[in-house]
Amino acid sequence: MSNRSYPFTRMRRMRADDFSRRLMRENTLSVDDLIYPVFILDGTQQREEVSSMPGVERLSIDLLVEQAESWVALGIPALALFPVVDSAHKSLLAEYAYDPEGLIQRATRALKARFPQLGIVTDVALDPYTTHGQDGIIDEKGYVINDITNEVLVKQALSHADAGADIVAPSDMMDGRIGDIRVALEDTGHHNVRIMSYAAKYASSFYGPFRDAVGTAGNLGSGNKYTYQMDPANSDEALHEVEMDLNEGADMVMVKPGMPYLDVIRRVKDNFGVPTFAYQVSGEYAMLQAAAANGWLDLDSVMIESLVAFKRAGANGILTYFAVRAAELLKNQ
Ligand code: PBG
Repeated sequence: MSNRSYPFTRMRRMRADDFSRRLMRENTLSVDDLIYPVFILDGTQQREEVSSMPGVERLSIDLLVEQAESWVALGIPALALFPVVDSAHKSLLAEYAYDPEGLIQRATRALKARFPQLGIVTDVALDPYTTHGQDGIIDEKGYVINDITNEVLVKQALSHADAGADIVAPSDMMDGRIGDIRVALEDTGHHNVRIMSYAAKYASSFYGPFRDAVGTAGNLGSGNKYTYQMDPANSDEALHEVEMDLNEGADMVMVKPGMPYLDVIRRVKDNFGVPTFAYQVSGEYAMLQAAAANGWLDLDSVMIESLVAFKRAGANGILTYFAVRAAELLKNQ
């Protein structure tokens, strides 16, 4: 065996001690990587557990602002806001999505007033506001009409920006919405409002617990989002979407879901080198929580391992329901 490198090379030498493991570590997770998604209720002093997402609560704005104190203290850079919209406010044309006194608009103002440094990310999509739970305005056959939907998304994004949102995050997957929103933000003087595009958003069954959390599961029923969200079998298509969204003025792009799509994150990062985010979605969270609740997995260690994996895949940051717990663990490590 003339060309064998062993024993001159022993891979285990560098793994033998903590100090050398630390020195050769290629990726690190920090609190700076975390965006915390939260679910918001109307009213005051309202707090509800989400049964399919243990440890996640829906909170009214007053309680949200109270809780946010500790998240800010942990150093979490940003929150992503999602509304639980009362059925009285749902309609075919989703008018409540751009109501200046809507739930998200009020929550954004309240959070920015109390924590000016905390980044606020708002979701731009119509599914919480439509009676049918689709992300846009539908025709008589139930097909989401692209360009009419974009007009409403623009109004929604502007109302978020007016309320003080730092980042608007279109998660609807309509064609051309990034460009329409960018032009409207420029025209109204919101030059520094960032757009985080859900560029590669797949038609995934991992969103189930989220649809429970925001109460859109019942509206959507047996419907699906295949005519606008991407086929999980594709990744060249993700690069095409990302390229278009960047050309239309996105500042950051996202791949969603997270763990089953790490290959897509890596391709996006390698091809474009732009700020790239991963969304570890509700179903991924529920899966790990359920296994941990059964004593089958150690929650803290699989949580950190899954988050580091996003960094290794090339993500600059991660939207995760584990953000608060992970920040606590990182602080004490
Ligand atoms: C709405 C939206 C969804 C999620 C984020 N924004 C659900 C969907 O597209 O049906 C899912 C997030 C999660 O599962 O954690 N457009």
